[in-house]
Amino acid sequence: MRVAVIGTGYVGLVTGTCLADLEHEVTCVDTEREKISRLKRGEIPIFEVGLEPLVKRNAQAGRLSFTTDLAAAVRTAQVVFITVGTPSTDAGEADLTFLKGAASQIAEAIEGYTVVVNKSTVPVGSTRLVQRIIEERLEGMHEFEVVSNPEFLREGSAVNDFLHPDRIVIGSEGQRSIGVLTELYRGLNAPLVITDPASAEMIKYASNAFLATKVSYINAIANICEAVGADVREVALGMGYDKRIGFEFLRPGPGFGGSCFPKDCRALVDISSKAGYHFRLLEGVLEVNEEQMRLMVEKVRRRLDPLAGARIGVWGLAFKANTDDLRESPAVRICRLLLGEGASLAAYDPAAMEAAAGELPGAAFAKDPYEAAAGADLLLLLTDWDEFKWVDFRRLKGLMARPVIVDTRNCLDPLTLRRLGFEYEGVGR
Ligand code: UDX
Repeated sequence: MRVAVIGTGYVGLVTGTCLADLEHEVTCVDTEREKISRLKRGEIPIFEVGLEPLVKRNAQAGRLSFTTDLAAAVRTAQVVFITVGTPSTDAGEADLTFLKGAASQIAEAIEGYTVVVNKSTVPVGSTRLVQRIIEERLEGMHEFEVVSNPEFLREGSAVNDFLHPDRIVIGSEGQRSIGVLTELYRGLNAPLVITDPASAEMIKYASNAFLATKVSYINAIANICEAVGADVREVALGMGYDKRIGFEFLRPGPGFGGSCFPKDCRALVDISSKAGYHFRLLEGVLEVNEEQMRLMVEKVRRRLDPLAGARIGVWGLAFKANTDDLRESPAVRICRLLLGEGASLAAYDPAAMEAAAGELPGAAFAKDPYEAAAGADLLLLLTDWDEFKWVDFRRLKGLMARPVIVDTRNCLDPLTLRRLGFEYEGVGR
């Protein structure tokens, strides 16, 4: 099938590339000329495991191309994906400017029956909005249908998530478009959930908010475990065997971050309130998350009072491992709080250092985990990169001013560290 993907951000680039890998003929469109020229040269603007070779392979096979010419890409496409950004406004609403703009431009270019697919996370009702915008401009000249097809890609495993999804959700009013999308995804082995557009849009929010709820829930349980002498990891294991609960998303930490969970939770609180329902539970999830970041600072303070003048080595700045993404990163928030208290920081992250320099004025950046810890009164682990597990802790101990580690991700082994003479504190154990 011939596919156009509008917006080469995270979702667009992964979607376009993976669809090309399923042997569709895909054109990815973006307004940023520089980005498109880089993509044409095979340079990938985002850090995502496995994406670069896939882009190269499919581009070389002639199935994947990049352009700034939206009209040309849409004109020949049978399926057009909208994967533009929907940033949060200050009020917590999703900003639909790019979505509306894309819909108008698509309408100008459509020729022949086209399925327009809304993949961005958008408030319930947005698929209809896109439908209306295109309808008004087309005035019946060409047939089209608009479908909601939310994505569930995680940064760091997006390619794998796309190619091996737990489910594919298609929200549509028309049989023809359902047929087209079923055909498009024929190469994937996953249950299809075929539903109406509003339900499809709601599935995305409800799923992300539920996963965020799991994280806040286990963080709350971790805090209680600390107080009563239980080990949250044992508790999560014992809970996870219950199939109704499952093992996933029960890792306590410094709070959830990233481009989706915080934004989607806030947007769902806003959607609920506009619909006349006060979503207290989800407000609580967000509050617990904010509190969790402050509690991590308190953990550090208990070992380093006063914070002013203390030297802290920081391991990890990205919002989670295997990404260079700093959006709403708890690590960055915690570093800012510590800097605000007058602590001096030396930070290291395997991928997010370049972006971090602008986010954390006043912090020093180290070239490796050892340099970050050198001379530190305390080492604070904030992101669960595997690299930190393989550090030579004997050598590390010799470098630190005081051998104290606060591990907000329960990444390291307390027994080994204590045996080496470290003071170690994790979360919930
Ligand atoms: C999420 C959803 O998982 C994905 O389906 C959706 O499409 C986009 O949002 P992502 O933001 O890439 O993906 O990250 P995810 O792996 O879900 O983690 C989100 C946050 O929760 C991270 O800050 C992570 O560190 C935290 N988390 C996750 C925990 O603290 N504990 C856990 O057990 C799981």
